[in-house]
Amino acid sequence: MKKVTVVGTGYVGLVSGTCFAEAGNQVTCCDINQMKINDLLQGVMPIYEPGLKELVDKNVKRGTLHFTYQITQAIQEAEVIYIAVGTPMTSSGKADLTYIKQVAKTIGENLNGYKVIVTKSTVPVGTGKLIKSVIQEHSFEQIPFDIVANPEFLREGDAIKDSMNMERAVIGATSEKAFQIIAELHQPFTSNIVKASLETAELIKYAANAFLATKISFINDIANICERVGADVTKVSEGIGLDSRIGNKFLQAGVGFGGSCFPKDTSALLHIAKECGYEFNLIKSVIETNEGQRVQLVKKLEKALGTLKGKTISILGLAFKPNTDDIRSSPAIDIIPYLAVHGANLQAFDPIAIKETKKQLGYQCAYSENIYESIQNSDACVILTDWQDVKDLDLIKVKELMKQPLIVDGRNVFDLETMKDLGFTYLSVGRPEVRQKTAASKSL
Ligand code: UDX
Repeated sequence: MKKVTVVGTGYVGLVSGTCFAEAGNQVTCCDINQMKINDLLQGVMPIYEPGLKELVDKNVKRGTLHFTYQITQAIQEAEVIYIAVGTPMTSSGKADLTYIKQVAKTIGENLNGYKVIVTKSTVPVGTGKLIKSVIQEHSFEQIPFDIVANPEFLREGDAIKDSMNMERAVIGATSEKAFQIIAELHQPFTSNIVKASLETAELIKYAANAFLATKISFINDIANICERVGADVTKVSEGIGLDSRIGNKFLQAGVGFGGSCFPKDTSALLHIAKECGYEFNLIKSVIETNEGQRVQLVKKLEKALGTLKGKTISILGLAFKPNTDDIRSSPAIDIIPYLAVHGANLQAFDPIAIKETKKQLGYQCAYSENIYESIQNSDACVILTDWQDVKDLDLIKVKELMKQPLIVDGRNVFDLETMKDLGFTYLSVGRPEVRQKTAASKSL
């Protein structure tokens, strides 16, 4: 059992802290946002994540998980301090380390015995060293401490599962003692421990996310070629994915990746490369392809409709992927303002991300948690998130509800033959177009 303090109760901090508590450690999660802490003390979660509330409630009840905004006390009492504060992207695409530096300063000022200070946030290479120097600068005596980089690989929507059963833990430590302490902490979650230097561990996180993002942009580029030569990208994915050296995951073509990690981390990696004098052209292209996917989807829609002005368009899905209410860098957040500015009437559906979207986009569109309500009388449906509600749509009912049967699908949800048989004009990504044959649809 270890005494762990986690600074920052965002996705990573809250989930990791809760899982450390579940494994029997004494965990204190702290945040400077008092409202967030007050909510957590009352059992209200700041994020939607399946299974999180149950695990938090259980561990609060049995006394292994605590919440506080008294950061100084939480630091003084801890043996291990996890820094899990945000590293937002600056306008230049660089990671902003303001919060990390603030926490390091507070740790330095409150260092009262040997502690292991761990970064969990995705931080640029060299941040561990920076934290070390900030702590040294602000601690009063020469109290020993160690720094560890222990990046997080959890996926939103699967966060608890990913944390309780990690595929691997990457531990980059400044001493063997610190490595052992953090390795022990991870024993309940995985036996695959990658021991590395601080810098290597920091880079592993960026390399992992950039590689996954590259897979997605690669298949999206292939999809764009498929559209031009009449091939089907889903079959290409299947055909290459069965090669175990390639693997079948992250080969789903679509409107591109979003979320809090891939867009931010690919840009940050580009900066890290630039700062050490290397032009990482591959990642530059990955980012460009991803941005292009959104544009192409809108172009397809515009071409099919003739004009956006005065058309009623259903947006199916606001979250960047299913099972989360996270809209950060979500395709919908880019696409809705464009369509609204060009005079379309928008009816957006999402089961859980409407509240967050309203905060950011206000009333540029009407919102509904009822998918059929948002489809009513529309000239086109645009699928941006592959929610189960979208997959489960009664397509006959959809056709009846729509003014004309046009679906532009950014997630390749439906089978082409089915759409053809039902008489839809169905434009997906990297697959042959399905055109409605009846006279009424000539304009589509
Ligand atoms: C990702 C990483 O998977 C995780 O390891 C890391 O810790 C944080 O970033 P997350 O952002 O939660 O996790 O989402 P993920 O499930 O990886 O999907 C990212 C984006 O890629 C989504 O927008 C998704 O729609 C898109 N995607 C994914 C594709 O477009 N095609 C695919 O084949 C897979």
